[in-house]
Amino acid sequence: MAFSRLLLVGFMGSGKSTVGRAVALELGWRFLDFDDAIEEDFGASVAEIFHQVGEARFRELENRTAETFLNEDGVVLASGGGWAAWPGRVGAVPLGTATVWLSVSADEAVRRTLAQPGQRPLLEGRDPRGAARKLIQERAPFYAAAKWRVDTEGLTVEDVSARILRILAAEHTEIEPE
Ligand code: S3P
Repeated sequence: MAFSRLLLVGFMGSGKSTVGRAVALELGWRFLDFDDAIEEDFGASVAEIFHQVGEARFRELENRTAETFLNEDGVVLASGGGWAAWPGRVGAVPLGTATVWLSVSADEAVRRTLAQPGQRPLLEGRDPRGAARKLIQERAPFYAAAKWRVDTEGLTVEDVSARILRILAAEHTEIEPE
């Protein structure tokens, strides 16, 4: 079937935002990032939101954002790493949504996220690698509900984007000219 939106799920540091932006550019679609939208609406960074109102409230804001974005057409959506990790979420996306899990190892996720310190409250403890391992193990079965999986280990943003574009092209998704 042809798709009118692409949803990227996966752990922190899997490249959802970077790859999402690149794919959107290629498709001539809009790029929407859950975390960016929440930060803009709330007027604070994700780390500050966690600190000020707690993770549970952040999760509510995140899901509200998801519901809005999943109704848009011609969009590439980068979810936050925790959004998909709830029973039934990925399976319940509207028709016409291509779902792709960008997988990454805990070591690589920590390596990539350490390059942007202070932005990932769930990996700010004393043992980020242990925390990443535990979360990835818990979440993998939920991420796996995505229709496709692209393992990003050792791949560049261009490689991952090209794989996603090939998946969409094989599904006859219209790529609008620039
Ligand atoms: C989170 C992932 C983050 C952000 C928040 C919580 C998670 O988004 O939403 O720090 O629970 O995995 P990214 O996956 O874009 O880093």
